[in-house]
Amino acid sequence: MYKLVKIANDISWIGVNDFEKERFENYIPIPNGVSYNSYYIDDEKTCIIDTVDANTTSTFVQKLKEILNGRQLDYVVINHVEPDHSNGLHEVLKYYPAVKIIGNNKSLGMLKAFDSNFPVENFIAVKEGDEIDLGKHKLTFAMIPMVHWPESMVTYDKEDKILFSNDAFGGFGGVYGGIFDDEVDLSFYKSEMRKYYSNIIGKFGAQVVNAIKKLSKLEIKYICPAHGILWRKDIGKIISIYERWAKFEPETKGVVIIYGSMYGNTAKMAEIIGLQLRECGITDIRIYDSSKTDPADVISRIWKYKGLIIGSCAHNFAVYPKIVPILHKLENYGIKNKYFGIFGNMMWSGGGVKDLKEFAAKLPGLELVAEPVEAQGAPKEADIEKLKQIAIKMAEKLNADKISD
Ligand SMILES: Cc1cc2nc3c(=O)[nH]c(=O)nc-3n(C[C@H](O)[C@H](O)[C@H](O)COP(=O)(O)O)c2cc1C
Ligand SMILES: [Fe+2]
Ligand SMILES: [Fe+2]
Repeated sequence: MYKLVKIANDISWIGVNDFEKERFENYIPIPNGVSYNSYYIDDEKTCIIDTVDANTTSTFVQKLKEILNGRQLDYVVINHVEPDHSNGLHEVLKYYPAVKIIGNNKSLGMLKAFDSNFPVENFIAVKEGDEIDLGKHKLTFAMIPMVHWPESMVTYDKEDKILFSNDAFGGFGGVYGGIFDDEVDLSFYKSEMRKYYSNIIGKFGAQVVNAIKKLSKLEIKYICPAHGILWRKDIGKIISIYERWAKFEPETKGVVIIYGSMYGNTAKMAEIIGLQLRECGITDIRIYDSSKTDPADVISRIWKYKGLIIGSCAHNFAVYPKIVPILHKLENYGIKNKYFGIFGNMMWSGGGVKDLKEFAAKLPGLELVAEPVEAQGAPKEADIEKLKQIAIKMAEKLNADKISD
């Protein structure tokens, strides 16, 4: 028997932790695992909200069978067709072939595209505001397009005032023991959530802001996302954190320095900047070697801090290859609200700093605080002075800023 976690009288968490998957969407490392949250509503009609990914389906179905205890499953709501939530549908259909699958017109097309045997006759397409009556619980649906897929929607239970928020408000990190925000180490889960937000949802800030605006009309007692911990203690706080992330608003005055270096000269330059930042009173500093730290962790930290400094040696007349994925993602997102600095190293005719300047020119939300610095080999006195200027100017800007939690 699995221990089922009650959320409200008739509602339980029947999600599954995945500690096996190395990389989410096959590229984002998840050393702390991820949960696929599914919820069971026990009413005149039985209903589950979302399923789980393929590798955890057998555990999930076992939980489902236990909780149904011989009853039929009447409905499964698919808030999001991405396979981490819809893969479990195959197995659910095996045991409950008559189950009605609730989605919307866009999700139907995607479900059919993923599975040519998808039972269209079981499908119910809901529209914005439609209601499904389970007995005591009435479920309504709201579309949240591009948070983070076109068909994304949320489900709201009027009875217990629960928002089943899909990937919105979700985070990485398996759900160990505690499941609610007031039962866990919140700083750990907040950082897992930032990593999820910045890497998965980050591009769609404007759509997140729209979704929050729409959903704020609902009275919400619980936010139950499709990944990570559930929110009930301070709903207003979590919504405001999320909204700030969506608006690319940093949380602190910290500075991320990310560099690419083959022989250590660019690395040395990064250290010089870091030390000078400290001299100027900046305490939150992270220096990452792009050859060591995964871009997903760098992106997450960039989201948190107001200052961003990128350094690169020259490589075949261009930026260092390990820096490329970070630039690609930041450009794809249209990153903004950052004080920015550039440095690098060269031997022949350069390339790294040139590419970084071109990158900055494409992004008006990056405010260059000082002249880019490019050294040839070991940084000389004049280079060191210029590197310190990047730090001094960055710190001046940050110290003048009012950033508060
Ligand atoms: C494969 C390769 C390609 C390079 N391409 C360039 C280049 O296009 N332009 C340049 O000025 N230097 C080029 N260099 C030289 C390095 O950028 C230069 O030695 C620099 O000092 C390395 O900085 P680092 O110590 O931070 O690795 C190249 C070196 C290698 C190994
Ligand atoms: Fe998703
Ligand atoms: Fe997801």
